[in-house]
Amino acid sequence: MSGSRPRVVATRRLPPLVEDALRERFDAVLSHDDQPLGAVGLQRALAEADAVLCTLTDRLTAEVLSGNPRRARLLASYGAGVDHIDLEAAEAYGLTVTNTPGVLTEDTADLAITLVLATLRRAGEGEREVRGGRWTGWRPTHLLGRRVSGATLGIVGLGRIGLATAARAHHGFGMRVLGTSRTRPDAEALASHGVTWCESLAELLPQVDVLSLHVPGGPGTSGMIGAREIALMRPGSVLINTARGGVVDTEAMIAALMSGHLFGVGLDVYPGEPAVDRRLLGIERAVLLPHLGSATREARVAMGMRAIDNIEAFFRGEVPPDRVA
Ligand code: DGY
Repeated sequence: MSGSRPRVVATRRLPPLVEDALRERFDAVLSHDDQPLGAVGLQRALAEADAVLCTLTDRLTAEVLSGNPRRARLLASYGAGVDHIDLEAAEAYGLTVTNTPGVLTEDTADLAITLVLATLRRAGEGEREVRGGRWTGWRPTHLLGRRVSGATLGIVGLGRIGLATAARAHHGFGMRVLGTSRTRPDAEALASHGVTWCESLAELLPQVDVLSLHVPGGPGTSGMIGAREIALMRPGSVLINTARGGVVDTEAMIAALMSGHLFGVGLDVYPGEPAVDRRLLGIERAVLLPHLGSATREARVAMGMRAIDNIEAFFRGEVPPDRVA
């Protein structure tokens, strides 16, 4: 460490309150151009910083982490998901990794519900029609969507965000909610969030009108929803993804949209962001958002403060509260 204050490199621009706090507490190196650093820039950051405050746009692969010299001992990731970091390699190189869970739960669940509503009620199509000057007026057969109330929602991944989405759907919109997850929440959590437990994806899929994904990204869930799983969904059902793009097989999803097997999709995440498969752009019933799950001022400040708490705990010699590796 230089002097008494750890040097912290932040890879992207952060809300002003967070940047001010970083300047006050650390020897902070902040981003001026808000561009992702890329492999070379990340290796430079790892060589000059005691901690790197990184985001999901930083691909911290084994190769990047192997850079020499390496001064950093902590990767404080700004966000809940850590699939952009090779955790095994980080551990092998003696790097501690933290994330910022909990503070973006409600906002990400709100966005999942936004997509459920927008997809079932065809809000994207309607908005484009008005903006495009093509609206010819009210008529009984215009842009008919699907009723939300009483529809069955399937939640895959019953962590904080999955449960918060379930509660909104059940208590707020009168949906029947089924859920499945690697770990079964306790009976009280299932009941209070309005979730009926399913033992497997295969049990859940044929019963739902809307499927919403809330699993972490990475190799364990890559392609989890493919042609076989989509075929198990009811004809005319809807797929919502606010988790990670790689969880869904894009080819299978587009084929099901084209054939009409899927009524629509609501997506906030894509494999290889910010690239979006061009075919999706031409599909009216695809509601496409640019990874906005945690994009509220409140969450983005709280995420920064949580990352700072982790950095401070680490340099006090404590186990950081949100250590993932
Ligand atoms: C996360 O925290 O992983 C989210 O995707 C950021 O919005």
